[in-house]
Amino acid sequence: MAYATKYGATAEIAEKIGQVLRQAGLRTDVLPTDPVSDLSPYKAVVLSSAVYIGRWRKEAATFLKANEKALAERPVWLFSSGPTGEGEPVELTKGWRFPKTQASHLTQKEKSQ
Ligand SMILES: Cc1cc2nc3c(=O)[nH]c(=O)nc-3n(C[C@H](O)[C@H](O)[C@H](O)COP(=O)(O)O)c2cc1C
Repeated sequence: MAYATKYGATAEIAEKIGQVLRQAGLRTDVLPTDPVSDLSPYKAVVLSSAVYIGRWRKEAATFLKANEKALAERPVWLFSSGPTGEGEPVELTKGWRFPKTQASHLTQKEKSQ
């Protein structure tokens, strides 16, 4: 279980899924994406990321690219953590107040509105 989180919700979901997998008898590590680099001990991978402004966290994308070969050789399950559901993320998050660190994800057009 590799997760990319900003405020911890995705980590909590990953921990919960990890618990269930352990109860099912599977040896499971639950780790943030950064320290997980060598996938050779793992038979399968669950990768998760929080969604911010319609995008996965950068470290999740980096993890995917860095481990492309190893991931292609094992079963992989992906999930996203974000509550807005179906629709255009920019529309759905209209009126939300974004932290400065997230503002760089907005397009120039959105910034000028
Ligand atoms: C600035 C900001 C932007 C967000 N953008 C989206 C989004 O585009 N789609 C979505 O489903 N959720 C969005 N969310 C909700 C988060 O993805 C959700 O709360 C997630 O569970 C947070 O995970 P984390 O605590 O692991 O970082 C946004 C939240 C914030 C604060």
